[in-house]
Amino acid sequence: MLLTLSPKTLSSSSPFPLHNSQNPRRKPPNPSRFNRRCNPISVKSEAQIERGLEFDPGATFFRHESARGRDLGVLSASLYKRSNGSLRVLDAMCGCGIRSLRYLAEADADFVAANDANDENRRVITENLSKIERGEGDERRWVVTHMLANKAMIERYMVGDFFDLIDIDSFGSDSAFLRDAFNALKLGGLLYLTSTDGYSSGGHRPYNSLAAYGAFIRPMPFGNEIGLRMLIGGAVREAALLGYHVTPLFSYYSYHGPVFRVLLRVHRGKLHEDRNYGFVTFCQLCGHSDTVRWDELGLLGCPCSDTKASSSLIVSGPMWLGPLHDGSYVTEMLDLAKEWGWVSEGTGMDLEKLLSIMIEESDPRLPPGYFKMDEMASRAKMNSPSLKKMMSALVKEGYAVSRSHIISNGLKTDCPMSHFIKIAQDELQS
Ligand SMILES: C[S@@+](CC[C@H](N)C(=O)[O-])C[C@H]1O[C@@H](n2cnc3c(N)ncnc32)[C@H](O)[C@@H]1O
Ligand SMILES: [Zn+2]
Repeated sequence: MLLTLSPKTLSSSSPFPLHNSQNPRRKPPNPSRFNRRCNPISVKSEAQIERGLEFDPGATFFRHESARGRDLGVLSASLYKRSNGSLRVLDAMCGCGIRSLRYLAEADADFVAANDANDENRRVITENLSKIERGEGDERRWVVTHMLANKAMIERYMVGDFFDLIDIDSFGSDSAFLRDAFNALKLGGLLYLTSTDGYSSGGHRPYNSLAAYGAFIRPMPFGNEIGLRMLIGGAVREAALLGYHVTPLFSYYSYHGPVFRVLLRVHRGKLHEDRNYGFVTFCQLCGHSDTVRWDELGLLGCPCSDTKASSSLIVSGPMWLGPLHDGSYVTEMLDLAKEWGWVSEGTGMDLEKLLSIMIEESDPRLPPGYFKMDEMASRAKMNSPSLKKMMSALVKEGYAVSRSHIISNGLKTDCPMSHFIKIAQDELQS
């Protein structure tokens, strides 16, 4: 029997009925669920302005704090348009449509499909997008739909109509749309993913992260970086299944939520040997952290322990082990942000500072994780020197070092913890 994938109550104009034979017992999602999820944090209907664009979030899920994540998406979309000449975007979970509006107005997208499963958002989305002339036929610049994100992607894939950028601003650790997203994306296209599951990245729900991203995550002091690596790793695994591979262009953690966002570029061909997909260890005894490849799993141990198998050692993974960002790509983003006058805003972690730290973090010599200065100080029972002093001392000793965009008192370095403490002690005495 042929069934449509979305619940009948969700408005959908799909001309493509699909087989839903995998699990007939699974109930289709109920649209009222979207309302329940949105309402607690939704704001009162009141006009808002973001980067000079006026829009009304209505009663949809909207967070002013996510503006930075939207800035990063728009900068990337614009770079894509500049280098490829065209830009077709799927905003798969668009809420009030602010991203769609920004992709159209700021990144000059040729076409945006603004989709949100909740059809009660329709009036708000349409009114917000009406600032951009809709156009007709082949010139049509935007469309509003109300399908489940999976269906919005499967439909386009089925007719061979691919997107340059798919933005999935989802809740929790929902990864069920990864495969459909890869299928609906052009090769060389961009996938902008979100996770808001701080429990999983913190190692508090290892079986949840295992189900969602194929990664067993244990608590580690740099859990928020692990959250980004877990999300990229989930995409790496799913891409390989389809014969693709992905590279992260940037990874962004924001404590509001928390929210983990990564922008991935999708390439043809799976890698035969991916040195960037493996495990991270942390020793609870000495604070040392390391990476372990699949073929080294039997050799697990911490240098602080005599025995090979150290009971103090915890292991998380598999996940992405490579750089969190592509440094030259983020440099282009920063140049564009400067061109648009989006820098030097002087408030909190401004965009210029964020992108500059991301460029530092993208040094391929830097392993996963960071040292928190206060944790190091309490471990060594000492005060900690300033970040600045510590950074120049580490460089003098020949180590790679950078600040972390995730935590202000953290340093990323390839220096082992024991030597890090020694350098900090020397700095305090000098
Ligand atoms: C985080 S909000 C989107 C916020 C918006 N992108 C922004 O930047 O303001 C997530 C939205 O996804 C919608 N949604 C939830 N699950 C969905 C699904 N499976 N498919 C499509 N939309 C979904 C919700 O109705 C909600 O509006
Ligand atoms: Zn140890």
